This record gives sequence, structure tokens and C-alpha cells, in this order.
Amino acid sequence: MSDAANKTWSGRFNEPVSELVKRYTASVHFDKRMAEVDIEGSLAHAAMLNKSGVLSDDDLAAIRQGMADILEDIRAGRLEWSLDLEDVHMNIERRLTDKIGDAGKRLHTGRSRNDQVATDIRLYLRGATDVIVALVHELQKSLVDLADQHAATVMPGFTHLQVAQPVTFGHHMLAYVEMLGRDAERFIDARKRINRLPLGSAALAGTTYPIDREYTAQLLGFDAVCQNSLDAVSDRDFAIEFTAAAALTMTHLSRLSEELVLWMSPRFGFIDIADRFCTGSSIMPQKKNPDVPELVRGKTGRVNGHLVALLTLMKSQPLAYNKDNQEDKEPLFDTVDTLTDTLRIYADMMRGITVKPEAMERAVKQGFATATDLADYLVKKGLPFRDAHEAVALAVRYAEEKRKDLSELQLVELRSFSSLIEADVVEVLTPEGSLAARDHVGGTAPKQVRTQIARWRALLAG
Ligand code: ARG
Repeated sequence: MSDAANKTWSGRFNEPVSELVKRYTASVHFDKRMAEVDIEGSLAHAAMLNKSGVLSDDDLAAIRQGMADILEDIRAGRLEWSLDLEDVHMNIERRLTDKIGDAGKRLHTGRSRNDQVATDIRLYLRGATDVIVALVHELQKSLVDLADQHAATVMPGFTHLQVAQPVTFGHHMLAYVEMLGRDAERFIDARKRINRLPLGSAALAGTTYPIDREYTAQLLGFDAVCQNSLDAVSDRDFAIEFTAAAALTMTHLSRLSEELVLWMSPRFGFIDIADRFCTGSSIMPQKKNPDVPELVRGKTGRVNGHLVALLTLMKSQPLAYNKDNQEDKEPLFDTVDTLTDTLRIYADMMRGITVKPEAMERAVKQGFATATDLADYLVKKGLPFRDAHEAVALAVRYAEEKRKDLSELQLVELRSFSSLIEADVVEVLTPEGSLAARDHVGGTAPKQVRTQIARWRALLAG
């Protein structure tokens, strides 16, 4: 190879960049992660050029062989990534040219790194999206299993973190199954916009070669071709959308984590988390800390931050491609890593949860959780709701003084607050009665919870 061809700076420049600038502008240390999809994209591009008569059969065969070798080198960890060659794209192309000569130099015909990198990110994200959707479904299954074991387990439902009304633990778990269901839907929907082909847009305006973008799209499994070259090379909204879906998923898991931390505190004592997800304290021998949920809560901040980083990255960019876009990858990769790790660990952790029904039942009783039921009972007997509310408020105050739950008061005691109260009140004052009465779609009655469990099992099957 001649000296000129060996230089990483072209004939256009009088001097190379400084070491600092080289490090500052290079991306190979993180974008090498896209090596396999970069090769996949290049092979499809080469096949399309060949079909269009731009690239000879011999060149195509050489490119295929060269890329197969490079792939093997990458998988074996043999490929030495060079900072001089800036990014994954130029590293692979140079390696190819070293191996097969001029055919390697012809690969970049009708293409730019701008449409190349946009294609790579989309291929990478498409794969990540499919993994994430499957993991969300796995986590949902573990929550449905837990809900099934506790479809009738009474726990206090809270508003303002004050005991409000009885719910079942199964119902509470299914609330998260619903959230995660919407999260999966969001990823599936974002995938439609991820799965479009930028390649063929070249640097920004398209190319003068007789290309067949539909063919490249078909080879790479894209649903469609991006319809505007300027948009195709500069748009990263598909990545922002993906990160928004990830931030919401993490936010849901952060809420659940917060609950797990509270429930595991001896002040609540509602659950125990298996030891393998907890750590002890280096100084306090009695401690067992819920590290995993705490970290999920903490890592949510990180993913939310990535979303803001990507939005900010995009907000002032003029068309078309700008180097700013190189900064999309680290937040994106870290979002994928954080979310996939979190989902994996979470499904496992939820299977290791021990529920303590006695503690939950105790909390229900301490909180007068059936007070609304008593008010509803009086309304059904003809009392206006506001009067019923007042009568029950007085009954609660009385029970509190007696240190009893409403269900533990004698009938005569209850009747002193309203003569409408009769023996049948027993059914509404117990947590079980309260639950069973909320028997409609979306209600917490164990029967309804079981119906929802069956619905989710069918949805998640297969
Ligand atoms: N490493 C670059 C990136 O990630 C590839 C595209 C570079 N294009 C350019 N015109 N400098 O965005």
C-alpha cells in the first residue's frame, strides 16, 4: 500500500489531527458494539449494488469472503480496533480492504457513513427491542404467577400511603402487569418506526447510482424504506422513542421497587425478599437490605437522564447529519443494558418473594379499611351518603378509642351510630366481604382477579 493510502487523513488536509482531537472525535471504543450489524448492512448493500450492475460478481464474492473472515476475527476477539480509524465503520472497511484489496474499496460506492450508521443503529435497536419485549413478557408471567398464589390474599390498599380499602395482593400485582403490558405495546409500536431503511440516502441527498433500496430493505428485513434522504440520515426520533419507552418501563419498575422496599421494612413486614437479592451491612449485623429494588429505583434516574440527553442532543440540530449524532450511542447502549439487566433480575426476584398475609391483614384492621363499606351499606339502606359518611366517622372514632376494628364491634355498639345497622352488617365489615363486593371488571374481588389472571395467561401464552 502506498504511503498516501496508509494515512488516515486524506489528501484534503495538510496535517493530521492532534492525539487529543483524535480521541475526542473517535467513537470506535463504543460503536464497535455495532460491528455485526454493520457487516450485515454492508453485505446487503453489496448484494444490492451487484444486482443493480454497479458491483461485479467477483467483487461481491470477495466482499462476502472478506466479511466472513472479519466476522470470525471479531467473534474470536482477534480484530484490533484502531483509534486512528475513528469508528466501527472505517475500521471494518479498512480491514476488508487489507484483506481483499480494491473490491473492499468499492463497497462504499453509493453509500455514506451517514446512512450507514443510521442503518446500523436501527438494526441494533430492532434486535434489542425484540429481546426487551420478550423479557417484559417474562416478568409479567412471574407477576401473574404471584398474583395467582394470592388472588384472595387481603392487603390494605393505600391512597396517600394511608390505609384506604382492602384489596388483594393479587390485584396489586396485576396493576403492574397492566403497566408492563402497555410498556411492551409501546416497544412493539416503536419497532414499526425503527424498522425502516435509511441506506441509499447516502450523505444527505441520495446517490447518482442506479440503486434499489426496496431490495436492500427486503434483504435486511426492514418493513419499509425511509422516504426522505435528509430526514433518513439525521433523524434519531426512533431512538428517542425507544428510550422514552425504556424510561417509562424503568419508572414502573421503580414504583414497584419503592413498594418492595417499604413492604420489606419491619414497620410493614408484608413481604420478604430472598437473601440472594439482598446484602448485609458492614457494621450493623442485624441488617438485611433490599439492594436490588433500591438499585432499580436508582438506575431509573440514569435511563430517564438518557432520554433527556437524546432529546437535548437533537433539539438544535439543523438538517441533515451532524457529528452531534455520534453522541446518541452511549446513552442508547446504556439504556438497553440497564433495562435488560433490570428486567432479567426482576423476573427472578419476584419469584423469590415471600408474602406475609397475617401482617397485611393486621394492617387492614388497624386502618379501618372497611369504613367505606359501612357507609355504602347505610346508603343502600336509604341514608344519604353524606349522613352515612358522618355516622361512620363517629363509629371509627369510637372504635379507635376502644382499640378495635369496626368488624370487632358488637351489633349494639354499631347501632348506636345508626339504627339502620342490622345483623347483615357483618358481611360488609370483614375484609373478605369488602373484597367480594367489588365484583365487576377491574374490581378487586378475588373472582375478578382470577378472571384477569386467566386473561393475562392467555395473552402471554406462546
Ligand atoms: N461515527 C459516526 C457516528 O456515529 C459515523 C458517521 C460519521 N459521518 C460523518 N460524516 N462524519 O455518527
